[in-house]
Amino acid sequence: MISKFIGKHLPDYTYSVPGMLFYFLDPSHTSLGFKARSLCFDKEDLDVNLRGRVVLIAGGNAGIGRSAAQTLAELGATVHILCRSREKGERAVTDIQSVTGNKDVHLHVVDLSSLKQIQTFTNEFAASGKPLHVLINNAATMQSERMLTSEGFELAQATNLLGFYGLTRGLLPVLKLNAPSRIINVVSAGMLASQFKLKCLEEEENISPYDGAAVYSQHHRARVMLTEIWADELKHEKIVVNSVHPGWVDTPLLRSAGPMQGFYKLMGKRLRSESQGADTIVWLAASDKGEKTTGKFFFDRKARWTNLPFANTKPERNDYENLIDFCKRVIGDKHDDSMK
Ligand SMILES: NC(=O)c1ccc[n+]([C@@H]2O[C@H](COP(=O)([O-])OP(=O)(O)OC[C@H]3O[C@@H](n4cnc5c(N)ncnc54)[C@H](OP(=O)(O)O)[C@@H]3O)[C@@H](O)[C@H]2O)c1
Repeated sequence: MISKFIGKHLPDYTYSVPGMLFYFLDPSHTSLGFKARSLCFDKEDLDVNLRGRVVLIAGGNAGIGRSAAQTLAELGATVHILCRSREKGERAVTDIQSVTGNKDVHLHVVDLSSLKQIQTFTNEFAASGKPLHVLINNAATMQSERMLTSEGFELAQATNLLGFYGLTRGLLPVLKLNAPSRIINVVSAGMLASQFKLKCLEEEENISPYDGAAVYSQHHRARVMLTEIWADELKHEKIVVNSVHPGWVDTPLLRSAGPMQGFYKLMGKRLRSESQGADTIVWLAASDKGEKTTGKFFFDRKARWTNLPFANTKPERNDYENLIDFCKRVIGDKHDDSMK
């Protein structure tokens, strides 16, 4: 009954109440959770020199992505950051270069909610012959109101799902060429309270009133499902694909997302720092262990469940097929040659 009430804004959708309780009452997402778990981390995992390794981070100018970019540059990697604002991107690149002393940090101005811009970028990157070993799909957004992109898509869906899908497919030929390689998808464990519903993607305009947090958790559920699908498809290509939840982190997204204001104030200093949030992303990108597993959902350097007991969120087989069909229908098969 409660779930019916909470979920009535989305077509054919309800939050999982047990999923929400497990998620929001779990203190491991906080800074204290990170400190406790990091006691068990193997410090030597990140005792690596990444010179010669090339990493691309979508949304690398702020928050968790910015922190990951800096640590990976510190470890010696060549880092490409994708960012929609030239000004913010140039500032991030200059800062990272001066803090780390690594000049091999490069900016690409791409609006990741624009399929056209993503296609142009991926085509140019592939044609340039530049290597790429690690793709970090970090960019995401949570909106308070429904907004449309110039290409006619709802902004959050365009950024969190369509752009995510388009960028990965577009860079896949380069990742294959440079295998062994890794794809790391940053997701929110808020998806643990979210059952995949195709209608929420197909008929998002019927979400009334718009519910930015519910939409966001649907996109992240889809990102976890795509991680599993791609891991399976690429298992013979020496490309590992994993998803990662950073915990609850004090970033511009959480500070500014309308639907999260109450949560942000409530959590206050209990939120993780950006570098704590970036830790498992860096670990998956840089450590030898990051190459040994595929198709998993990581949180604090450990593979975790993608579905909680009693939450009733486990996707069915046809959900996976529907999701892929949806992405192909909307984006087209332009980038799919390498996946057939
Ligand atoms: N913070 C948390 O507690 C939390 C919890 C779970 C999962 N996550 C996930 O962690 C990831 C990073 O989030 P964050 O908290 O670090 O948020 P953030 O500080 O807002 O960073 C998001 C990054 O994505 C970029 N971005 C957003 N839309 C874009 C677009 N259309 N084109 C290009 N870049 C775009 C942002 O650029 P601008 O600076 O231009 O906006 C920024 O660089 C996201 O996937 C988020 O869902 C965060």
